[in-house]
Amino acid sequence: MAFRSFAIRTFGCQMNVHDSDKLANLLLHAGYAAAEPDDADVLVVNTCSIREKAEHKLYSDLGLLRRWKAAREGRLIGVGGCVAQQEGDALLARFPQLDFVFGTHNLRHVPAMVRAAEAGQRSADVSTSRSLDRFDLPERHPQFEASTPGRAFLTVMEGCDMFCTFCIVPTTRGREVSRPADAIVCEAEDLAARGVVELVLLGQTVNAYGRHDVRRGHASSNGTMRFSALLARLAAIPGIERIRYTSPHPLFFDEALVAAHGDLAPLCPHVHLPVQSGSDAVLARMRRRYTGDDVRRLAESLRRARPGLVLTTDLIVGFPGETDAEFEATLRLVRDAGFVDAFSFKYSPRPGTPAAGLPDAVAEEVAQARLEALQAQVRAQTLAYHRSRVGGEADVLIEGRSRRAQQLAGRDPWHRVVNVAAEHFPDVAPGQIVRVRIAEATPHSLIGEPDASAGAHPGSRNLPVASVPESGFASGAVAIRR
Ligand code: 5AD
Ligand code: SF4
Repeated sequence: MAFRSFAIRTFGCQMNVHDSDKLANLLLHAGYAAAEPDDADVLVVNTCSIREKAEHKLYSDLGLLRRWKAAREGRLIGVGGCVAQQEGDALLARFPQLDFVFGTHNLRHVPAMVRAAEAGQRSADVSTSRSLDRFDLPERHPQFEASTPGRAFLTVMEGCDMFCTFCIVPTTRGREVSRPADAIVCEAEDLAARGVVELVLLGQTVNAYGRHDVRRGHASSNGTMRFSALLARLAAIPGIERIRYTSPHPLFFDEALVAAHGDLAPLCPHVHLPVQSGSDAVLARMRRRYTGDDVRRLAESLRRARPGLVLTTDLIVGFPGETDAEFEATLRLVRDAGFVDAFSFKYSPRPGTPAAGLPDAVAEEVAQARLEALQAQVRAQTLAYHRSRVGGEADVLIEGRSRRAQQLAGRDPWHRVVNVAAEHFPDVAPGQIVRVRIAEATPHSLIGEPDASAGAHPGSRNLPVASVPESGFASGAVAIRR
């Protein structure tokens, strides 16, 4: 019996979302059709293990999946991603409803694993390697449907060699590997030719791109280069209006990368800069290798290079031993660096990481209270920033209709969600950029109205820097650390 259709459920980060896209594309090339889970013959779950809660999603899902499988004869279930990488064939042994398990380096083997499963053979492949083979993927299949027209993820590096003490990623994603620049540029040119206007460069520590090669003098032989040089090459591609990158590590902002924010028009005036904590003592226990003041200086340098640049961040509260004073240092850094938004998390011990063995766990109620206090401060900063934008202009890349009917929703270059009434833009399709005037600020988004020169501007660049309002958050001067 031949299986013809697949569906993929994705948990976790943008890297996982992009891996699911790559997998969908591989399965389309292998002759399978995309379907909703209710209609599919093969269901793949792409898992996340960054925090305990994320990992448990797989386990709570598996009961449901058993019923899904029993509902139609011959259905198959595969599990990939970070939990699969950690657990390997133990998952097959524990869950008889699973047919195949693949790790984060083995996407390319999945079509063969599906075929083996169709022939009754269960398999697990979580082998890892430093080889660049995993980046050799087919180009977009004609039936591949991008989740956001106009925007595409583009992998520039994978893996992480930083080993922050709380983090499972170096275990689940393996060592840092950077793709040759020519392959990245080639993929970007292909995406631009297909109508993509915004590139989101992906890597666990994306601005560490090429660093090992550059340091050892191997950059030219391995085809990598400094991250800032890669950005310049991508910014020169006709049709590429916007470039973002996620997630950078504060340690790898050299002067050239900071300067790129002033020099490269398509480079968006927004950096998502995970800082995790504002306390130097906690940062040292996390092995983050920078201080709160390093972050203040970096924020200042970036804003000097690109006035109006927006910073957002990731924060962890309740790291082992975190005192009230250490937590307050985080609140101060969030204020001083002027973060406009943040993802904040309660620390979750990950088995096998150094922090999981640290003493002085923070009580759950204390961590919860800190999380709420932090989120309240972040909400206030978001709203203050949104209010500072009222009256200004923005180019909005339309992504689709928002849940509230009759509204088009998109993002501006500063990565803020902007909603506009659809009636003002009857001819605009997702993937197009429209210019609006910001009429109203809400806690979660901005409301745009047609500008005097309103309409679709598929060929327009980001706004000139001069028309961008300042974020209104001051910080002290100085150089960044390298
Ligand atoms: N506990 C809580 N949050 C974590 N993160 C990573 N590991 C953990 C953990 N063990 C958060 C960090 C990171 C984001 C992707 O997830 O803030 O930047
Ligand atoms: Fe995890 Fe730290 Fe690597 Fe980020 S830099 S993926 S937090 S180990």
